[in-house]
Amino acid sequence: MQISLTKVSDVKKLSVRVILVGQQKSGKQNKLKMDDVSKETTELIEAAAKAGEFEGKANECQLYRNANLEGATHLLFVGLGDTKAIDEETLRSAAGTTFKALTSVKAASSAVSLDQITGFAKSGAQAFVEGLQLSDYSMDEYKTAKDKKQKTMKLSLLYSKAPNATLKKQITSAETIAECVNFSKRLGDLPGNKMTPEILANEVVNAAKGTKLKVTVWDKARIKKERFGGLMGVNLGSANDPRFIIMKYTGNPSTKKHVAFVGKGLTFDAGGISIKPSAGMDEMRYDMCGGANVIGTLLAVAKLGLKVNVVGYVPSTENMLGGLATKPGDILTFRNGKTAEVLNTDAEGRLILADGLSYASEQKPAAIVDAATLTGAMVVALGNTYTGFFTTDEKVRGKVEEAGKESGENVWAMPIHKDHHSDMKGQFADLSNISSFRGAGSSTAAAFLSNFVGEGIPYVHFDIAGTAWNCGNRLSYVPPKGATGCMIRTFVELAKKL
Ligand code: BES
Ligand code: MN
Ligand code: ZN
Repeated sequence: MQISLTKVSDVKKLSVRVILVGQQKSGKQNKLKMDDVSKETTELIEAAAKAGEFEGKANECQLYRNANLEGATHLLFVGLGDTKAIDEETLRSAAGTTFKALTSVKAASSAVSLDQITGFAKSGAQAFVEGLQLSDYSMDEYKTAKDKKQKTMKLSLLYSKAPNATLKKQITSAETIAECVNFSKRLGDLPGNKMTPEILANEVVNAAKGTKLKVTVWDKARIKKERFGGLMGVNLGSANDPRFIIMKYTGNPSTKKHVAFVGKGLTFDAGGISIKPSAGMDEMRYDMCGGANVIGTLLAVAKLGLKVNVVGYVPSTENMLGGLATKPGDILTFRNGKTAEVLNTDAEGRLILADGLSYASEQKPAAIVDAATLTGAMVVALGNTYTGFFTTDEKVRGKVEEAGKESGENVWAMPIHKDHHSDMKGQFADLSNISSFRGAGSSTAAAFLSNFVGEGIPYVHFDIAGTAWNCGNRLSYVPPKGATGCMIRTFVELAKKL
């Protein structure tokens, strides 16, 4: 979608004018609130409310054809719900609803009042533009009979008083972030044969062109030489070679201080010898979303030109069942010298992250953040509403919660207890890759990972297994099925805070 700022008086004939409508509730009374519209339009909306056709509830929408008001052929009313409860996420969500409605009527040109959006929430403009551009994504690269390609839709953000620099910055930031999130969604949506570790690495190299991002890619020989025993071990059953992708962004050259992001880049997880059941196994294409979202974060930070230093690390492989595949009981030695017995080859994410975290720690970062579709237990615990995060650092916990509030992404703190650590002790090696005790599968996985973070480095692990895809039933601006690019928005905020 092409979004531009337009002065109200310059607006030419539009196909659709979007009107955001809030509810002002006091006692039993419920008055509708919409600004910047003519008396006729107000009357039309109020008549619709009286007739029970449109009440202004959040995400309710109603198209009035051929109304010929507000310089447009059709009017689209989009509800925001109770004005006291409207925040940035309300607007992001309303934008998703707006995008769907505009698409379904093939609106070539549309407009919405910017003053109205900013009147409802401080960073409303950023949220609304994010909602629109995040909605403008679909994976149809492999559909030969493409839907008749719709001409690019144009939407004007109407202003009466020239927008200030802050507002313009909100809009360009939203465009950049949405572009990077959509880039990551594509990486996630492509299936195992179209997104191998090698292809993933090439995508990163290409995407970084023209940015200040320095990309280094290690091949199998280098990974072996660097003693990445976890990544090598998981890759043994696969005919496709692994990669280790390093992305470096120096936005503040005056200091060595940097934040490390590590992402699980499992391009397809069949489970290995401890093979997964076949129903829904295709969804394990999404097992590289942690990696994809770390890549999206690094791209976003670079394109936004943030004055911070950030390094991203993505260990990438498939988890397959070839003749040389790691067998239950096999012992692996990781980059930091620790050993683990692999009692279940399907608990592979922690094995490749172990090397990534060890290596990241050697570079002495100010903090390490990781993202991984790590455990089914996370999906059971929090579903697709919250991303669970694990940290034992109270300060970091506070910062993550703040970052989540700012990005509009839901995060929930989960525990790592010393019991979870003892559950992960090995019999024949330092560690076991699965717990000796039933339950708390996400916490024991997090405890395992902590073993690979250097002493004293603040660390937070995000288990995105529930939120990395199929969140379309919750979020209007995410496709019903497919990758979400979750946590990129939060990580961009975190990069500034840690
Ligand atoms: N990639 C999966 C986790 C997963 C499962 C993500 C379902 C999203 C949906 C991970 O590699 C895995 O298989 N984990 C196992 C660990 C177990 C064997 C300890 C799991 O959660 O079942
Ligand atoms: Mn697995
Ligand atoms: Zn996995």
